[in-house]
Amino acid sequence: MYEDEGDDEEDLPLETRRLKLETRRMQSDRRIVNLALIGFMGTGKTSVGRLVAESLHFDYLDTDEMIQSGTGRTISDIFKTDGEPAFRALEEKVVMELAGRTKTVIATGGGLPTNPNNFNSLKAHALVVCLWASPEKIWERVKNQSHRPLLHDADPQAKIREMLAAREPFYKQADVLLNTELRSVREVAQQIVHQFRLATSSR
Ligand code: S3P
Repeated sequence: MYEDEGDDEEDLPLETRRLKLETRRMQSDRRIVNLALIGFMGTGKTSVGRLVAESLHFDYLDTDEMIQSGTGRTISDIFKTDGEPAFRALEEKVVMELAGRTKTVIATGGGLPTNPNNFNSLKAHALVVCLWASPEKIWERVKNQSHRPLLHDADPQAKIREMLAAREPFYKQADVLLNTELRSVREVAQQIVHQFRLATSSR
């Protein structure tokens, strides 16, 4: 899965060599025993995640559900009463708790991987799969739902475009990026199971 670019290392600047060594060290520290689904709201993490968990005989956990059951409050209430930074702190706490899991499919909130601590923690124990869809498709899927505070905006379609563009660099750091637009939930799930088996059998 990790291809060496084949650079002649001795010709690289010291800082680049140091970074490459650090990246290799982090990769060799990985122990893939879980599967994490990341991606924007409305890309299907919950429905796909449940199917993948069923196929792999894994547990299924959702970071938003963990926050809700841990606090006894809804995500909307946390955003409204305490603000987004408080929600992000709860998200990070939950991600740290997940580091001890095995055989678990973890569906994450759409903004969770924009925090590098969360991303690095997930990558240490999980294959990170990102579900992707265009802003138009996302809008089509979420427009009749009201439980997402970040989409309570005068122009939710513009908000989706803006947030997706800002998050794209984070999402693209996933191990696997899957476009969900032309595939059914079942097909997406099958692809992910396949990728997970490939990633874990070559180790
Ligand atoms: C958020 C996505 C939501 C939830 C919260 C914030 C985001 O999760 O965590 O409303 O920042 O994109 P889903 O992606 O499961 O809708």
